Amino acid sequence: MTRILVTGATGAVGAHVVRALQDHSADITVLVRDPATAKTRLGDVRLAPGDFDDPGSLRRALSGVERVYLSAADGPRKVAHETAVIDAAAEAGVQRIVKLSAMHADPASTLPAYRWHGEIEEHLRRSPVPAVILRPAFFMTNLLMVAAGVASTGLLHAPTDGRPVAMIDIRDIAETAAVTLLADGHTGRTYDLTGPSAITFADVAAALTDATGSPVRSVDLTGEQARPRFEGNGLPDWLAAHLAGVFGVIRAGGFATTTGHVEAITGHPARGIAAFTRDFAAAFTPPAVPAGQHG
Ligand SMILES: NC(=O)c1ccc[n+]([C@@H]2O[C@H](COP(=O)([O-])OP(=O)(O)OC[C@H]3O[C@@H](n4cnc5c(N)ncnc54)[C@H](OP(=O)(O)O)[C@@H]3O)[C@@H](O)[C@H]2O)c1
Repeated sequence: MTRILVTGATGAVGAHVVRALQDHSADITVLVRDPATAKTRLGDVRLAPGDFDDPGSLRRALSGVERVYLSAADGPRKVAHETAVIDAAAEAGVQRIVKLSAMHADPASTLPAYRWHGEIEEHLRRSPVPAVILRPAFFMTNLLMVAAGVASTGLLHAPTDGRPVAMIDIRDIAETAAVTLLADGHTGRTYDLTGPSAITFADVAAALTDATGSPVRSVDLTGEQARPRFEGNGLPDWLAAHLAGVFGVIRAGGFATTTGHVEAITGHPARGIAAFTRDFAAAFTPPAVPAGQHG
């Protein structure tokens, strides 16, 4: 059976990639820094202890491996981390890498994470290992960052200028990754991945209203009004710059187009916002008022 190494396996997308590969009864090993946490998060799965900063651990983890799912955390070490895996995979004779990238990845981008992905993609294209590049749009799970605020105020603030976003459910990214790891015919391809439709934040608010049973209203902000929500909010500078930049891309219409790749590759339609808001309704729902404290 084809041996697959999953990196970033304890990550948000990575954990779903592990589950999707298990659903296909694939032969997987996961590269993890902390085996105890990984066991709790992922259950019964073969572990390869390792760290992107430890080349020896990558060599050991990649021995005998044929295919790799490549994903690392965003941050200033991202390019070093992912290129270390690519180089070690080439040395180990790996036959396929499926890289989680991002729509708008570009080595010349002014947005840090898009620039890092662009640099890693370039490195991957120069490497001898055949590759599939997955470039998802804005994740629906990003909405969880403002879930507590929505639950307490009923307001969904965003600087989108009313522009639509073809946001995607990370479970669909993971299922697409699993198929491109297992099936032939995808190497050399770069896929922009989106949800089934481009929706505005007013549409998201309506879906949250339905799912929570409490009214949620979207409030559009200008980029300037939104700036304090990113900068000076305890976020690292690169992340504040990246998040502000992503909303700039949204306002420029950069996420307004859908693609059919999720359905074409997985064989099922991409999940829409209603499925996401139903599954995560609790996070956006106002806390129950204790009896006797009404009015
Ligand atoms: N949010 C969006 O809208 C969006 C859109 C498009 C693309 N993306 C991309 O999606 C990716 C995020 O994927 P994700 O959510 O699955 O990742 P994530 O939740 O950020 O997880 C990062 C993973 O990297 C692992 N890791 C970090 N440092 C490591 C090291 N030194 N050695 C080994 N492993 C290490 C972490 O393991 P530990 O458990 O040990 O920390 C974790 O498994 C990013 O590349 C981002 O740019 C995001």
